[in-house]
Amino acid sequence: MAVKLKGKDLVTLRDWSTEQIWQVFKTAEMIKQMQYTGQPYQPLKGKTLGMIFTKPSTRTRVSFEVAIYQLGGHGLFLSAQELQLRRGETVADTAQVLSRYLDGIMIRTYAHKDVEDLAEYASIPVINGLTDYAHPCQVLTDLFTIYEKFGRLDGINMVYLGDGNNNMCNSMLFGAAKVGMNLTISAPEGYEPDAEVLKLAREDAKATGAKFAFESDPQKAIGGADVIYTDVWTSMGQEEEKEARLKAMQPYQVNGELMNLADASSVFMHCLPAHRGEEVTDEVADSVQSIIFDQAENRLHAQKAVLALTM
Ligand code: CP
Ligand code: NVA
Repeated sequence: MAVKLKGKDLVTLRDWSTEQIWQVFKTAEMIKQMQYTGQPYQPLKGKTLGMIFTKPSTRTRVSFEVAIYQLGGHGLFLSAQELQLRRGETVADTAQVLSRYLDGIMIRTYAHKDVEDLAEYASIPVINGLTDYAHPCQVLTDLFTIYEKFGRLDGINMVYLGDGNNNMCNSMLFGAAKVGMNLTISAPEGYEPDAEVLKLAREDAKATGAKFAFESDPQKAIGGADVIYTDVWTSMGQEEEKEARLKAMQPYQVNGELMNLADASSVFMHCLPAHRGEEVTDEVADSVQSIIFDQAENRLHAQKAVLALTM
């Protein structure tokens, strides 16, 4: 059954219902199949997506630009450095002006509040392409990828290792809660999940039965996992903390020794970019269990679904 997504913002996955999230997966599946069989799908002819970036990006920038183009529309890359935002124009004014030209905005920036404000003042859909708090496009893609591999999400067990208090872990909690996926987080002291995020995710999990656990010992955490997930230890904007983070998170490195404790049928995932030799070794990233490049490819298909449904 189709649910309404037209005109909707994607600020965090908390804002979307389980049905709306499944609508994205089903649409992404169709779009991917059409692309693989050479059938064009161009529902966004004549539409323009503005893409604001305050932080670097490889996947998000390229996949969104290719996505809007292949859907029949046009993508406009807007470096925040070159917008009047840098010289003090407000987010609210920017939102209202851009709404007169564009049909949708994708934004990657530091402060989550800026995306909330943009969404509030814009009259067109605003999509969060990563903030310090959340990365919903990545997690939609990750869940779609897990669904493709396992045929379901409900009851899947994911172990997330490393920085339990970053944008990826926050969004994974929000996403898991919506689809009934169990999530065990294994992180060192000082990098445990945010209590407020956990509380919000637990509220949403009541409807789906998703279970969340914390296990500080990575060797204990990994047993029984279907999916082993990690992210960089130092996120964009945290560069000054790098030394302390490297030291604290070393025991959480996903290496061959740790993977030997996991089921042979489990898969390894990483949102990328990977800092090989830190959170993951080459041995794991390039192993047969690793699905990191399928995951990266799916950014294109999942985001096409988000654009086609919201714009
Ligand atoms: N995973 C992800 O968002 O990658 P980029 O930073 O390259 O966009
Ligand atoms: N946590 C990482 C994710 C990168 C896609 C960061 O914010 O740098």
